[in-house]
Amino acid sequence: MQKEKQMRFDIITVLPELIEGPLNFSIIKRAKDKGLVNIELHNLRDFSKNKHRQVDDYPFGGKAGMVMMIEPIYDAINFLKSQRKYDEIIYTSPDGELFDQKIANELSLKKNILILCGHYKGIDHRIRENLITREISIGNYVLTGGEIAAAVMVDSIVRLLPDAISDETSALSDSFQDNLLAPPVYTRPAEFNGWKVPDILLSGNEAEIDKWKYEQSVLRTKNLRPDLLNDED
Ligand code: ADE
Repeated sequence: MQKEKQMRFDIITVLPELIEGPLNFSIIKRAKDKGLVNIELHNLRDFSKNKHRQVDDYPFGGKAGMVMMIEPIYDAINFLKSQRKYDEIIYTSPDGELFDQKIANELSLKKNILILCGHYKGIDHRIRENLITREISIGNYVLTGGEIAAAVMVDSIVRLLPDAISDETSALSDSFQDNLLAPPVYTRPAEFNGWKVPDILLSGNEAEIDKWKYEQSVLRTKNLRPDLLNDED
C-alpha cells in the first residue's frame, strides 16, 4: 500500500548489503510494510562504465588512499534526479555538520531524500561543490564508510514518521526531544533481588507520576549531559 505522504530515501552506496540489514527490523521494517516509507538502495557500481565496475581511482597530487570517481556518482545522482525532485542530497562524511535529534526532526518533514555514502578517502570534491546540498557526520570519529551513518540517520528519521510507532506520543518522549534525557523506565516484577521500583510509579497517581518523570529527566540531564541544558536550539 502506498500512501500519498510516503517518505522516500534513495541511498547510493558501494555496499548495499551493509545498509539492508539494519533497516529491515522492528519499527523501520513495520514502517516500510505499512507504506510509510520507501527505502531504495542503489549500487554505485551499476553506474560504472568500467568493465571491472570500478568506482575509485588514485588521487591527484596524493599518495595513500583511493578517491571515489566523479563520473559514476554524477550519473547515479542525475539518473535519480530525473525520476523525482529531492528535498536534500546528503553526503555522509566525518567532516559534515553533526547529526542530532533536531536534524532528524527536520528531515522527517521532507518527502524525498537522497543519501550518498562516502567511502575510501572520500569523493571527488567537485561532487560536493556542485551536487550535494547537505553534508552530515554522525559523530567525531571515522567510520570505514558512510553506510552505517546513513542507516543511523534513516532509522532515527523513520521512527518519527506519523504512525511509525503505535503509541504516537512515544517518539516525542524519546531522549533528546526538548533537550532532555528520558526518565528511567521499569517493568515487572516490582521487586527483584531486593531492588525496588520507585513507589511513585506503582501509585496510580498520573499527575504525580508525570511530575516525577519530568524531575527525573531534568536530574539525569543535569548529571549526565549538562551541555544539553545550555543548548539554545
Ligand atoms: N563516514 C566516515 N565516518 C563518518 C562519520 N563519522 N559520519 C558520517 N559518515 C562517515
